[in-house]
Amino acid sequence: MRLPAELLDAIQQETDKVDRRKLVQATAQLTERYKAADFLTPATATEAHRAAYLAVRLPATYAAVRRALAEINARAPQVEIASMLDLGAGPGTALFAASEEFASFQLATLVEGDAEWIALGKRLAAPPRLPESLKVQWSKQDLRSGLSCEKHDLVVISYALGELSQATADAVLVKAWKCAGKFLVVIEPGTRRGFATVNAMRSALIANAAYIFAPCPHTSACPMAAAGDWCHFSQRVERTSQHRQLKGGELGYEDEKFSYLVAAKNSLPSIGARIVRHPGKHSGHVQLALCTPQGQIENRTVTRSSKEAYKRARKAEWGDTWLE
Ligand SMILES: C[S@@+](CC[C@H](N)C(=O)[O-])C[C@H]1O[C@@H](n2cnc3c(N)ncnc32)[C@H](O)[C@@H]1O
Repeated sequence: MRLPAELLDAIQQETDKVDRRKLVQATAQLTERYKAADFLTPATATEAHRAAYLAVRLPATYAAVRRALAEINARAPQVEIASMLDLGAGPGTALFAASEEFASFQLATLVEGDAEWIALGKRLAAPPRLPESLKVQWSKQDLRSGLSCEKHDLVVISYALGELSQATADAVLVKAWKCAGKFLVVIEPGTRRGFATVNAMRSALIANAAYIFAPCPHTSACPMAAAGDWCHFSQRVERTSQHRQLKGGELGYEDEKFSYLVAAKNSLPSIGARIVRHPGKHSGHVQLALCTPQGQIENRTVTRSSKEAYKRARKAEWGDTWLE
């Protein structure tokens, strides 16, 4: 996956404003914060830290959001997404992802607590970077004081719940679900902690009559959590030369590990099973770890003798759906 050229260009313009040495230092500090899973103290309090976020974190969070939205687009293309509410929007990452993904997208409401992020997000989305027909409105709100929102087709909470206390996250989710007309998407880092947040939100949503659209093919208790494991996926995103220089390393891509959930207001056709690990592709057979509609993890070996299934299994990737 690659970021839209307009967004890459906007990021470059912002990072160019920051002294190179400060940017390198802020990137190292930001990376340390994420490694230490320290999400409760603000990691992006200075201009240099926000620029570092744009350069080295936004590409990954964009990729994870885009992947979750693509799931909606691929499996429910008939459901029109005309409006999106993004909570803890930061620089407006989800705005760019939704704009790429949904042809009918007309209105974005971006809720953010930090005035500096709002100012930066407005600069990133300045004309002509997004379609003229798309109306973008920012709402400065501190989610700790409750959320005020109108109904939107889609609500996104991307890499934000983990920065809130449990009580605030619970309250935000309840309100967010009320404001979701069609779908609610929650995304967190693909760590044990990120998954625990997503799984807790999943239980709360199921208790509120939500249909789980992705990634789970069932509404039973998560079998991975029961086994002490954590459900997560991986999205590859191209790295720019600036990203490589700031983070070190030669690879032309990075793999963002993320946990996510798409809840729907209405039931949609079943997906079969979900592939929850990298498929083991061997000569003559493919091994799949599946989360099944019965709410169990099952290992399946698809051999060359099952012609059609084998062909599909050779192409299958971690995170894809799997029909028997
Ligand atoms: C890690 S950033 C994620 C930004 C964006 N959603 C993304 O995926 O790239 C988390 C965002 O949540 C915002 N945030 C954290 N606590 C908040 C609160 N209490 N009220 C409003 N926004 C908050 C932060 O200011 C920050 O912009």
